[in-house]
Amino acid sequence: MELMASFIYPQAILFPQVSLAKNFSYGQYPQMQILKYMGNKRRLLNWLVPLLEEYLDLGDTVLDLFAGTSSIGYAMKPKARIIANDIQGYSAVISRALLQFNEQIRENDFNDTLSKYYDKNLDQLTDIFGKAIEDEQRLVNKGSFDEYKKFFLKIPIYGRGVTSDEYKLAPYFSKQFIDKRRVAKKSFPYLLFAIYYSNTFFSLKQCAEIDSLRYAIDQISDKDKQALYLSCLMFAMSKAVNSSGHFAEYLNQNSLSAQDLLLKQRAISIVSEFQNKLLDFGNVYLQKRWENKVYNYDYKDLVKQMAKDGEINGVKLIYIDPPYTNAQYSRFYHIPETLVRYDYPTLTLDRAKTTPVKGGYRDDRYQSSFSHTSKVEEAFQEMFGIISSSTDATLAISYSDNSLLKPVDKLIEIASQYYEIIDKKNGYNHSAQGSRFKHNGRGNHIVNEYLLICKRK
Ligand SMILES: C[S@@+](CC[C@H](N)C(=O)[O-])C[C@H]1O[C@@H](n2cnc3c(N)ncnc32)[C@H](O)[C@@H]1O
Repeated sequence: MELMASFIYPQAILFPQVSLAKNFSYGQYPQMQILKYMGNKRRLLNWLVPLLEEYLDLGDTVLDLFAGTSSIGYAMKPKARIIANDIQGYSAVISRALLQFNEQIRENDFNDTLSKYYDKNLDQLTDIFGKAIEDEQRLVNKGSFDEYKKFFLKIPIYGRGVTSDEYKLAPYFSKQFIDKRRVAKKSFPYLLFAIYYSNTFFSLKQCAEIDSLRYAIDQISDKDKQALYLSCLMFAMSKAVNSSGHFAEYLNQNSLSAQDLLLKQRAISIVSEFQNKLLDFGNVYLQKRWENKVYNYDYKDLVKQMAKDGEINGVKLIYIDPPYTNAQYSRFYHIPETLVRYDYPTLTLDRAKTTPVKGGYRDDRYQSSFSHTSKVEEAFQEMFGIISSSTDATLAISYSDNSLLKPVDKLIEIASQYYEIIDKKNGYNHSAQGSRFKHNGRGNHIVNEYLLICKRK
């Protein structure tokens, strides 16, 4: 039996072109940021991965049940086979890119594969939005927020209409137009983002770039490569979005610094950021050693299905990293979800039921019980019950004291009804902003991260 702990990490073979300074900034494990993701484990890899590897032999299967941005799977894939799952569609796309794509990206990849389709869609959007985009770009470059603000009033905002339709765009924002698109989602030209998110989360030009890249990506038949391109596009969007990197709400511009930030964010070119990220992928060799898999299910359905068809018997370790806080991922990342689905979603309305809420959330978004104060305890009970009756795999559970179920001993108490807790690691402290927790004297609070290792009784 070949023990993982004594296995020499095969970076030289698997990631031969990696520039250490760029891609290994937090240590020895490979990582690739796609989204600024709440609760992601990229900064904890040096602490977490060796602890997980203690329970594995080379090539064993790890099931990452709440994979998010697959930081754990990507770091572990040189030594373990990974099955990743998450309920969010964008997560499955990221996992697919990081765990299943098995080629190298060439330097001229964008020009060779995407640019002609990108140009085709952009040309059509220029016919519709060209004059408005031209005026918008002139004002963004001029750097005068007051003038730019006046321009806002001439562009319709989806669900809210327009003050003065100087550019004659209102028909594209109408119910009739959207209803038609809902039955023929992939009609040409692609323009969902230009309708739903221009002048709020992104500029009109950025939306036209996103739509045109999305169109180009859909013309590629290789699904793993599509996932890689979509991941690059999510990365570009998270750089340009007018917020602090997530998509819960766009910022209000009621301070000079917010106005300045808005103009800077509006000046970001989506297509350049996309190409830069593609080149980043070109610098790492994404070779996989085993047939990794990616699922997009509620974890309960997946575990039951895997138990039914026997797939779960091949799993040695289940890594469990559920949501910790009351922030719903479907709210913070609804725009990547819509990018992936590209389905002209119905949006949640405000209390008066007349206008979409400011964040423009999908009405069908999934609400996790792990993020509900009144449901979280029951959610853990249910989870331990389902998993323990489906498999005798070891569980490794990430949790922190910055979490809804408090104290961590409560989690241990629930787990102990089904499992023997064979290890509890609290090796990692870091600071996070906020005032609800223990202060470290610098306006931050100290968060303790835990890893519980559970063996079935
Ligand atoms: C703390 S994050 C995981 C972060 C991940 N380890 C990383 O490094 O990016 C929790 C994840 O659980 C997912 N999730 C929430 N409820 C779920 C459910 N019932 N089934 C599957 N995934 C779920 C969320 O979409 C989110 O991506």
